[in-house]
Amino acid sequence: MNDMDAWTQSRYGGVAEVARTRTEIPAPARGEVLLRVRATGLNAADRHIMTGEPLLLRSAFGWSRPKQPVRGIDVAGTVVSVGPDVTGVAEGDEMVGEIPAGGGLAEYAIAPAARLVPRPAPVDPVTAAALPIAGGTAWQALDRAAASAGDRVLVLGASGGVGTFAVQLAVLRGAEVHASCSERNRPLVASLGASVTYDRRAVSLADLPEGGFDVVVDIAGDSPLRAVRRLVRDGGSAILIAGEGGRVLGPIPRVARAAALSLFSRRPLRPLAATAKPEALRELLALAADGRIAPVIERTWPLAEAGAALAHLAAGRTVGKVVVTVG
Ligand SMILES: NC(=O)c1ccc[n+]([C@@H]2O[C@H](COP(=O)([O-])OP(=O)(O)OC[C@H]3O[C@@H](n4cnc5c(N)ncnc54)[C@H](OP(=O)(O)O)[C@@H]3O)[C@@H](O)[C@H]2O)c1
Repeated sequence: MNDMDAWTQSRYGGVAEVARTRTEIPAPARGEVLLRVRATGLNAADRHIMTGEPLLLRSAFGWSRPKQPVRGIDVAGTVVSVGPDVTGVAEGDEMVGEIPAGGGLAEYAIAPAARLVPRPAPVDPVTAAALPIAGGTAWQALDRAAASAGDRVLVLGASGGVGTFAVQLAVLRGAEVHASCSERNRPLVASLGASVTYDRRAVSLADLPEGGFDVVVDIAGDSPLRAVRRLVRDGGSAILIAGEGGRVLGPIPRVARAAALSLFSRRPLRPLAATAKPEALRELLALAADGRIAPVIERTWPLAEAGAALAHLAAGRTVGKVVVTVG
């Protein structure tokens, strides 16, 4: 048997463009491994690549259709073969990491060995697959802000994948966390350790104290930049994670405005473009193994129903993470 079950798309578009198919099992090239996928976590990035929007991303992922037809960037799996020049990874190893353009919504996936780290035995594949992008982004945001014990950290948009990690990781750093989300998600966000939660529709940023926070992590990206900056104390910082932006350039105009507003400012707005950082993933896995963080997993779907998982993601109401289990 040289073929496998996979969800593929031959053009950009909505979930209807993604279909369950049989396709050839790929072979690892130099520096790559072939994984038997065990679980794949879904992220906003998968939604962007699926739809091909913002259009700017097509310069990297394919002009007329995604060069990699299979979505799923965050993958946990078992190494079944290794390509040339792969060191430190062997057949049978349980690994986790990010596959740059995706490939995880399939029984097998090719991954660059350098992007993978070992999955500790206490961390199950579903938990591991929930960590890389969302956990890594939250990790990098708090690092960038140098959030530390005693800081008051405000997380705007705390209930999604990145937000639920940002709250937990800020609490672990000893920060006092305030967080916004929908009313329905406030109990969940409070259970992650946020001291203060509020309904993002009922409370305006103008109602919050000027300069009241050492760090603001803006994940929601739907507030005016000046309103976000107003909340940060002098010498503190606001990390801008999102900003879905327009169809063509996505968050780029907001990032440019943030840069302009931050020139000579004592309250800089710092856009974050998170990258795959295996060393941070290692730390996140260690925290998960010790039970010091616990990814919020809203729901899992089996590979046979991955289309439903993508539809849920596309609806934009994900609470924590959604993960597809494979095999
Ligand atoms: N800069 C980077 O490197 C980077 C990395 C990763 C992700 N991101 C971006 O960060 C954002 C969050 O990613 P994620 O994976 O955490 O997303 P997610 O899991 O899909 O977040 C879903 C949650 O966001 C909230 N939400 C939905 N629409 C909203 C709106 N218009 N305003 C405010 N909140 C809204 C909802 O929670 P409530 O109903 O509770 O409000 C929803 O449950 C995305 O825009 C993504 O593209 C950026």
